[in-house]
Amino acid sequence: MVSNGETAQRMFSKRLIGKVAVITGGARGIGAATSKLLAENGAYVIIADILDELGAKLADLIGGRYVHCDVSKEYDVEHAIQFALKWKGRIDIMFNNAGVAGPEGSITNLNMDDLRALIDINLNGVVHGIKHAARAMIEAKTGGEVDEGQIVHGFVEKIGIKKDVIVCNGLLSMYFKVDRLTECWRIFYEMVVKDTVTWNTMICGYSESGLYRESIRVIECIEFSTPQAPIG
Ligand SMILES: NC(=O)c1ccc[n+]([C@@H]2O[C@H](COP(=O)([O-])OP(=O)(O)OC[C@H]3O[C@@H](n4cnc5c(N)ncnc54)[C@H](O)[C@@H]3O)[C@@H](O)[C@H]2O)c1
Repeated sequence: MVSNGETAQRMFSKRLIGKVAVITGGARGIGAATSKLLAENGAYVIIADILDELGAKLADLIGGRYVHCDVSKEYDVEHAIQFALKWKGRIDIMFNNAGVAGPEGSITNLNMDDLRALIDINLNGVVHGIKHAARAMIEAKTGGEVDEGQIVHGFVEKIGIKKDVIVCNGLLSMYFKVDRLTECWRIFYEMVVKDTVTWNTMICGYSESGLYRESIRVIECIEFSTPQAPIG
């Protein structure tokens, strides 16, 4: 029997709770294994494949959804993304996994129709996926960049704030890029306290984010060498 502690532990270890993932070629092989793993970690999984029976069965098993999708057809891929948006209102993870093995034999006998079919699936299929997932993610301001921000944040939490000014400048820049201004300020504050000042990064970071008033505030701080609470 699973104790409450163990249940809590399992819940805690789920790293993708609430994330929505579309996995092309998710009915079988690597895609199927990924679908299961993501679902085990709390993600909502949409399997997009041409193997309808297998895909639907696996989707049922993992509490996900199946959508018929031939990745060589742009419309199908767009439809799979729209399906995710309709189901959960977002898409966080796009795994362009669907693919087929190339034609065998000598190039001297290469059938160009086979090659075109291969390119349609293995190359264009991936482009279709990136195009439509990126479109949805950009519109919703979710996806890759936010996920990377979480990774950076976790890493900084793990290593702590190092005294090295280069490391701190790097961290500040990364935090700025993912809009984690509170963390920026925290690192900056520690650096000022340790007298390892990173004014330039702070000013540039705020300016690049269009936060000009905050930039000016930092410049004002230089005069007193004491950071003030950030505006807003
Ligand atoms: N297994 C390997 O050693 C290996 C090596 C290099 C690359 N890859 C690539 O990794 C990916 C997964 O490999 P796998 O071993 O799990 O392959 P697999 O053949 O077991 O699974 C591929 C999945 O993609 C689906 N698929 C094929 N064409 C599709 C299409 N037009 N639209 C939608 N779905 C389609 C299939 O139905 C299947 O579910 C493939 O892209 C493959 O080319 C695999």
